Amino acid sequence: MVVEIYYFSGTGNSLYIARELQNRIPGLRLIPIAALLNKRLNERNKNIESTSETIGFVFPCHGLTIPISVKKFLKSLDLTSSKYLFAIATRGGSIFRGFSTIDKILNKQGKNLDASFIINMALNDPKLKSFTIPTSEELDAIEKKVQEKLILIHETIINHETYHDNTSGVTFSRFNSLNYILERLVTFTVHHVAPKVKKYFYADSKCTGCGTCEKVCLSQKITIVNDKPLWQRNVDCYLCYTCLNYCPTHAIQIYSKFYMKSFTKEKGRYPHPYAGVKDMIIQKSNEYTPRSL
Ligand SMILES: Cc1cc2nc3c(=O)[nH]c(=O)nc-3n(C[C@H](O)[C@H](O)[C@H](O)COP(=O)(O)O)c2cc1C
Ligand code: SF4
Ligand code: SF4
Repeated sequence: MVVEIYYFSGTGNSLYIARELQNRIPGLRLIPIAALLNKRLNERNKNIESTSETIGFVFPCHGLTIPISVKKFLKSLDLTSSKYLFAIATRGGSIFRGFSTIDKILNKQGKNLDASFIINMALNDPKLKSFTIPTSEELDAIEKKVQEKLILIHETIINHETYHDNTSGVTFSRFNSLNYILERLVTFTVHHVAPKVKKYFYADSKCTGCGTCEKVCLSQKITIVNDKPLWQRNVDCYLCYTCLNYCPTHAIQIYSKFYMKSFTKEKGRYPHPYAGVKDMIIQKSNEYTPRSL
């Protein structure tokens, strides 16, 4: 049985999960969504064909649902070969509404998710009040639960079982109707407003012009001009926060037009301990991702 996993990962959490499954399932192919989307642009939007019967998707939760990049990718994926489909969302801890969105896209090809899993991991969004750099004890506690969950995921996948995780998590308020409105607002902001804001990211005076942000940017939105990053308006942003979290001097900030200030200064940054700059570069350029670098 050849298993294909298509993954997207801004700071390595989802990549770590995908790699752990690659270590457990012989012959598993790890395919980066960012590279496929970039290739698709170069090939004038040709559809992406999957070749395996067992296919999985691993990605982070963004704005309570799937990332924009994953949505775009799923819409262009030809799943004729598939017989068993699964999805794994890594998240910081909120409610997750993305599996039904995936099913809606898959239903158009007469398919649906056979299994869906949620994994709680460290938060990689420094603009949030709740963001802190996890201590080694906190990372160990996360890792322990991750390993337990991986046993379940592995068993379920190799036996082609049906399984659907409970997707509830931290919500905004005690009132269902208010939650519904706020949740829609968050998803709308992350998917439609933030990627189009003119000055969402900027580099402050700590920028040394090293070019790392351009190298890791998963959508190729960043280009270095006069030793400073430029977020090009005509290129989509995936809101992966790879640039923000991998800048070696923490010079990249998020500017809130609404509050007219930055929420990311003095906040520290989070990349997964096993995911480096090289992993991000491979993710956007190579067709397959090796076991480890
Ligand atoms: C733009 C953005 C939005 C996010 N939204 C949520 C969210 O709604 N709920 C949640 O639990 N975590 C959220 N997170 C945190 C990530 O889902 C979580 O840290 C994930 O494990 C990161 O995986 P990655 O390193 O593979 O990108 C968000 C992160 C980013 C960058
Ligand atoms: S990674 Fe940071 S320091 Fe390097 S060019 Fe980009 S913003 Fe400047
Ligand atoms: S600009 Fe930053 S957040 Fe947007 S796609 Fe590039 S690396 Fe990701």
